[in-house]
Amino acid sequence: MSRVFITQRIYPEGVRILEQAGIPHQMRPDENPLPTADLIEQARGVEALITLVTDRIAEDVFQALPELRIVANVAVGYDNIDLSAATRHGVVVTNTPDVLTEATADMAFALMLAAARRIPEADRFVREGRWHGWTLMQEQMGVDLYGRTLGIFGMGRIGAAMARRAHHGFGMRILYTNRSAAPAGLEQELQAERVPFERLLSESDFVSIHAPATPETRHVFTADAFRRMKPTAILVNTARGPLVDEAALVNALRSGEIAGAGLDVFEEEPQVHPGLLELTERVALAPHLGSATLETRTRMCVMAAENVREFLQGRRPANAVNPEVLAG
Ligand code: GLV
Ligand code: GLV
Repeated sequence: MSRVFITQRIYPEGVRILEQAGIPHQMRPDENPLPTADLIEQARGVEALITLVTDRIAEDVFQALPELRIVANVAVGYDNIDLSAATRHGVVVTNTPDVLTEATADMAFALMLAAARRIPEADRFVREGRWHGWTLMQEQMGVDLYGRTLGIFGMGRIGAAMARRAHHGFGMRILYTNRSAAPAGLEQELQAERVPFERLLSESDFVSIHAPATPETRHVFTADAFRRMKPTAILVNTARGPLVDEAALVNALRSGEIAGAGLDVFEEEPQVHPGLLELTERVALAPHLGSATLETRTRMCVMAAENVREFLQGRRPANAVNPEVLAG
C-alpha cells in the first residue's frame, strides 16, 4: 500500500529519495493534472501527495482523503493549494524555496532584456528574410537598461536576486514595493529605496513582479496602475498571472500607456489572452519557464521528496508553509 502518491511524473532523483528511505510510493507516469475526482480515486489511503503547480488541491480533496497529512508542492508558489483548508484538516503543506531563486531571476532578466531589445521580433525578422542590410535607424530600435530604474514588486528572495543582477550587472537604480522593509544590508547593497506602489509605478522604467498570488495581490496591476506607469515602461511578470489584469494589460499595451511586457505567467494558463498574442512588438512571451533549468527542476523534485521523507519519518519537514499544523 502506497504511502505517497506523486500526481504527475517527476525527475527520478526525487523518486529515489523515497526509494532509498523505503517509503512505498506510486507515481503517475503522465505529465498532466488529473481531474479532482480521479486524483481522489487514485490517491485513496495515502498520507502524502507530491503535487505540481497545475494540480488544484482544495477542500474537496482534503475531505475525501482523511488519511492525508502532507502535500509537498514542487514549486515555491502554492496558490494551487487551498492553504486554509489544508490547515483546517491538519495537513502540512511544503514548497521548494531557494533552489529556484537564481533560475527564476535569470528568466525575469531574460524577459526584461528580450522586451527592451526586442529579441523575439528581431529573431522573426531575420528568419523571415526581411533583413536587407544594417541601417542606423534599425526597425528594432530598443531601449537602454543601464542607468534606468527598475521597480521590484515583492522584494523576497527572487525579487532580491533580480535586483542584484540589475544593480551590480547593469547599473540600474532599484526601487521596491513590499509589505515590509528589506533587511538594511540588502537595501544598502542594492542602494534600493522602498516606495509606495504609486511611486513604483510612476518612477520605474521597468517593473518586475515577484510577489505570490494571494487574495490581496490579485489584480494589483489594473488599468489604473498602467495609467500611472511611464508610456516607455516595460512590465515583467515571472511570478503569477493573477497579479495582473490581463485584459487591462492588453489595453494598456495597445493604447501605448506602457511600452512593452515580458511575461512568463498568465491568468488562465495555458490560455493566453488573444490580445497578447496579437501584440508582436516589445512583447516577449514564455510558457511558465521561470524555474525551467534541468538542475533547478531536479533540485525542486528532490526537495519536495525530502519534505515528505522527513515528515513520514517523524521529523519536521524543512519547508512547511503552515508550520502551525506541526506545532499542534
Ligand atoms: C513555479 O511557478 C513555482 O512557484 O515554483
Ligand atoms: C520566493 O522564493 C521569494 O521569496 O521570492
